[in-house]
Amino acid sequence: MTEQTVFLNGDYVPISKAKVSVLDRGFIFGDGVYEVIPVYGGKLFRFEEHMQRLQDSLDAIRLSNPYTLDEWQNLLSRLLPEEKQFDHSIYLQLTRGVAPRDHSFPVETQPTVFAMANRLPRPDPIWLKQGVEAVTLQDNRWLHCNIKSIALLANVLLRQQAMDQQAMEAILIRDSVVTEGAASNVFIVQNGTVKTPVKDHHLLPGITRDLIVELARDNGLACEECQIPESALLEADEVWLSSSTKEILPVTLLNQQPVGTGKPGPIWQKMYTIFQEYKDGLRQSA
Ligand code: PDD
Repeated sequence: MTEQTVFLNGDYVPISKAKVSVLDRGFIFGDGVYEVIPVYGGKLFRFEEHMQRLQDSLDAIRLSNPYTLDEWQNLLSRLLPEEKQFDHSIYLQLTRGVAPRDHSFPVETQPTVFAMANRLPRPDPIWLKQGVEAVTLQDNRWLHCNIKSIALLANVLLRQQAMDQQAMEAILIRDSVVTEGAASNVFIVQNGTVKTPVKDHHLLPGITRDLIVELARDNGLACEECQIPESALLEADEVWLSSSTKEILPVTLLNQQPVGTGKPGPIWQKMYTIFQEYKDGLRQSA
């Protein structure tokens, strides 16, 4: 099997040859941002939205974007195989580059730019049939969660805490209000209305989340972006998680209690179907 090729600072190199200095500020400080972009049938999913979020993250950390939209598109497309049979996800990361260790920004340092494409496995059919388990945990992260920062230690610890309790995701609560999952956004269904937290600095503005809101409205489902108290989450008829790699997953067990009937709900089923149709449309697009 030939070795995976990745992009690093303008070059395409075998992954084992892609090396970054120990003084890279991503390594030393977690000083960087990233994106994860699904690719269906060779087509980048919501590419412009992902690039806009990348730009917002870069602006927030005051790092300039080294490439135009077209340059990014060409650069990333070269990482994808010719055959379009499998789905992929592109991971890309920019850091503030290599410099002597000092908290303040280095002057005239080039950012480190890295990107790779990996096969994107379909969500496990058992998750779709039975739903997944989640637990609520206190959101102890910083107050810039809208930035897609590579500094994910808090998210890593929260996800692991959930896994230690046999749950797949931690649903985070700050001041008795739902924010998001450790690596996903959260939706609830309450009396037939789909609800998700308003976008602000407490959560990542998920690309999948935004598409779900758009598709729900286009398809005549009641959908609100609003504050979700923890109590509403715990009493919801349905709870869903969304992300680029997990699509939309129904949570059927929350803090070891069944959500609604304890089975994936009818509105999730409808939304899931609409989402798959959207993906198929992208695959077949010119
Ligand atoms: N994470 N919130 C957090 C904290 C996330 O890390 C993610 C995704 C999301 C969902 O965003 P999107 O729909 O744009 O993927 C929400 C990615 C997949 C990751 O870190 O691998």
